[in-house]
Amino acid sequence: MERLVINGGNLLKGSVDINGAKNAAVAILPAAIMASEGKCTIDNIPDIEDVHCLERILRDLGCDIIKIDNNTLEIDSTNVNKFDANTDDVRRMRASYYFIGALLSRFKEARVLLPGGCPIGVRPIDQHIKGFEALGADVIIEHGAVKVKADKLVGANVFFDVVSVGATINVMIAATLAEGVTVLENVAKEPHVVDVANFLNSMGANIKGAGTDVIRVTGVESLKGCAYSVVPDQIEAGTFMIAAAATGGDVYVRNVIPKHLESISAKLIEMGATVEEGDDCVRVTADKPLKAVNIKTTPYPGFPTDVQQPMSTLLSIVPGRSLITESIWENRHKHIDELKKMGANIKVEGRVAIIDGAEKLTGAIVKATDLRAGAAMVIAGLIAEGTTEITSIEHIDRGYPHIENKFRALGADIKRIKVDEE
Ligand code: EPZ
Repeated sequence: MERLVINGGNLLKGSVDINGAKNAAVAILPAAIMASEGKCTIDNIPDIEDVHCLERILRDLGCDIIKIDNNTLEIDSTNVNKFDANTDDVRRMRASYYFIGALLSRFKEARVLLPGGCPIGVRPIDQHIKGFEALGADVIIEHGAVKVKADKLVGANVFFDVVSVGATINVMIAATLAEGVTVLENVAKEPHVVDVANFLNSMGANIKGAGTDVIRVTGVESLKGCAYSVVPDQIEAGTFMIAAAATGGDVYVRNVIPKHLESISAKLIEMGATVEEGDDCVRVTADKPLKAVNIKTTPYPGFPTDVQQPMSTLLSIVPGRSLITESIWENRHKHIDELKKMGANIKVEGRVAIIDGAEKLTGAIVKATDLRAGAAMVIAGLIAEGTTEITSIEHIDRGYPHIENKFRALGADIKRIKVDEE
């Protein structure tokens, strides 16, 4: 077991390079299994536990993988002949559900154990199933697995009942090798949705409209390998931007697409921080007192739910009352109890966190209750008086590459320690 130990109080200064997006990479890797000839060489893959999990699943399904470096994989899916994703890794993570769409698309059949992931609310997959069925697949759930099978997949119109990142990507993947045209409406527009569409197009797919409300997929017969680079991580970038503002620092967040960060930049500016945009960089400075603000999470281009928890840490020390309304997940305020152990003054009523800014946070032993909660606790440790120890950091390792090294390079006093048991 490992913990992060942080001695708070240091300003963050300098620059940090953002890695490729977790939520793009975890869809692109399963989608690589659809190439029936050639190899996919994918770079800018974040070196995180969710990616390591997917690598193992791909190997189990018969892919040959060469690790070129920590951020680049060469995947040869030519010899895949197993359609049953049934290892513990599949159950451990959310994104393993992309194997349903990818295997269904290429082989017209799949069996995939139901996915796990962060405990942030009920995480149904009814919209994925609705899309697969519209394309002509039979879908059953039995013995904890999703089984899909089709004689052939035929393009269809699918209007999603909710805006879902996962369902948009999964049904888009499945439709890629269907006969004819599929029109997906009320889709998610997140940068990672666009990135997966770009990756599929690089393999030979014909997908138009990703990033708008309607995606049109014209089925092609087969896909082949390609070279691709994963889009920068909007959420990792947002986390560092918030940490910079929280410590009153001056940080260049590099290797980003500033457009993807606009909702976060706008909120920081509304609070009184300065955000300067360069071509592939944002500089965040906060040298005067910040103001309380209200935030409501919504699908892209709105304020991302995945940045809400780090933002609650920043707001916990901003004078006045801030409200955070979480509209995507019903259970994404669990980290608030941990922040309270450090002196935060926050009440949760349903989906709303009512934050009355405290004068300071003080170090304590706290838990990373999920991935972004973990990031929130790291930022809390950075601004707290004294020492903070964060437990259950395996959640953080699932989605943030080498988080302690990146913060240490910015001047934080943070280290990883081993402990015998939690
Ligand atoms: C993705 O989850 C991300 N995960 C999440 O990031 C992120 O919070 C979420 O999108 C929203 O942006 C990955 O990409 C692996 P959804 P996903 O389908 O696809 C409801 C992180 O911290 N819904 O967009 O599972 C659902 O209950 C993680 O990196 C249905 O009702 O989310 C939720 O209320 C956590 N039926 C809303 O839609 C469905 O079939 C959005 O979920 C699917 C979803």
